[in-house]
Amino acid sequence: MAEERFDYSYDYRTVLLFIYSALFWGVVGILIGLWISVQMWLPETNIAPYFTYGRLRAVHTNGLAFGLGVGAIFGITYYITMRLCKRPLLFPRLARAQVYLFNIAIALAAISLLAGATQSLEYAELEWPLDIVVVILWIMFAINILGTIFTRREPQMYISLWYIIATVIAVAILYIINNLAIPAGWLKSYHLFAGVNSANVQWWYGHNAVGFVFTTPILAMFYYFLPKSTGLPIYSHRLSIVSFWSLIFTYLWTGAHHLVYTPLPDWIQTLGIVFTMFLIAPSWGAVINGYYTVGQDWEKAKNNYLTKFFILAITFYGLQTVQGPTQSLRIVSSLIHYTDWVPGHVHMGTMGWVTLTVVACIYYMLPKILKTEIYSIRIANLHFWFVLIGQLLFSITMWITGIQQGALQKAVNPDGSLKYTMVEIIAKNYPYWQLRTLAGVIFTIGMLFFLYNIYMTVKKAKSKSS
Ligand code: HEM
Ligand code: HEM
Repeated sequence: MAEERFDYSYDYRTVLLFIYSALFWGVVGILIGLWISVQMWLPETNIAPYFTYGRLRAVHTNGLAFGLGVGAIFGITYYITMRLCKRPLLFPRLARAQVYLFNIAIALAAISLLAGATQSLEYAELEWPLDIVVVILWIMFAINILGTIFTRREPQMYISLWYIIATVIAVAILYIINNLAIPAGWLKSYHLFAGVNSANVQWWYGHNAVGFVFTTPILAMFYYFLPKSTGLPIYSHRLSIVSFWSLIFTYLWTGAHHLVYTPLPDWIQTLGIVFTMFLIAPSWGAVINGYYTVGQDWEKAKNNYLTKFFILAITFYGLQTVQGPTQSLRIVSSLIHYTDWVPGHVHMGTMGWVTLTVVACIYYMLPKILKTEIYSIRIANLHFWFVLIGQLLFSITMWITGIQQGALQKAVNPDGSLKYTMVEIIAKNYPYWQLRTLAGVIFTIGMLFFLYNIYMTVKKAKSKSS
């Protein structure tokens, strides 16, 4: 019987363009992160109304979550989907158009945030005209991903594809519902929901942004690239599937843990907390799978530089997914909420889990696509140590100052009045905030090593091909 012939010319150019775009926005976002960290202890660096902390902070979070994060998700999930479906993207031109629209959208988002246009909903700051652009972008992505998966040439669906499908569907639902608003001009709108309902929908969205932007697509990457880069088969497919379905089911109920001790009805808070505690189990399903996979040959963690990135990333994910549920408990929340503890938690996830996984995927993919080797493993190792030290210093200083802030805010005199004013408490933060800037500088140097390594790898590939 004649063998069926497949066209294996994958559209890697689009993947590369997404990666380069993500790296560009990553640099912008990280530099702004450094800047706002300085603004906290040196107010003179709020140099103009456009560049005050309130505006730059949103550019930092949006630039990194959507520019770096979603840019990398678009590029890397296209790569994974093509490989796992054993076919090119269903609509390669649509994907190419998506790259350009994506960059235009992020640039417009940054400009509009600097101009002060915001819906005042965290991670959903963009005003309604840009929301429409985001929805169009996501539809383009969904058509290509789902279309490619439905017409796949490999009958088996590896776990990464399930995580990618969950990302595509959940983000669409979350984004559209939380951004329902009544326009009152081109750059002004009112949330469709009011008061406590508005807060509840917002944090249902906010927490699931963590779940479906910073977790499910990153797990898809982790599950695909860990076996690829180590040559070790995934420890348990069954565990990966069981933890996938329980994670998806649980995540969507947990948002209320962001509203502990607020006017949100108590029972909704409790429901959120209970589901949050349960979330430890499916999260650790992935952690255990990661550890046992590498456990088949621990030598790999010494000899293969990528294993180090992946195993550290999943370790941060493991810590993050114990710390998160703990934070949701009323007694813990009452101490650490409204303190710097929370940015400590956030950056262990974003700098540790998300960024480390994304860079490791790029280290693996880029040389494969360009048919070359990585320029320098030594530089990659330096990169590893700098980001690790920067990340730990960032989170540890924030945890310490967070507990101190919480304790000072709660301290009362015998007559019940507060012992410390807010200004006194803030003044005590300065040394920690300065240390955070140092941590950011160390992390940024690490990322510069990475960019240099990538730049030199691309250069090497170009000189080989010419
Ligand atoms: C089982 C997993 C996790 C749970 C249950 C969880 C839980 C929580 C809780 C309860 C808070 C609120 C803290 C407070 O303000 O009192 C929080 C904040 C946050 N977490 Fe997590 N977390 C988890 C994992 C992660 C991961 C993996 C990331 C990122 C990669 C992350 C990013 C964030 C962010 C960005 C916030 C701040 C939200 C805000 O703007 O207030 N979390 N998390
Ligand atoms: C040089 C590295 C970085 C520095 C110096 C930095 C600095 C900061 C600062 C000062 C804040 C404001 C904290 C506050 O409100 O008190 C912040 C918030 C945030 N950053 Fe970063 N950041 C860095 C890297 C990153 C990365 C790589 C990501 C994501 C991939 C990220 C995501 C976020 C998020 C989601 C928040 C909001 C946290 C919250 O609401 O609690 N940051 N960052």
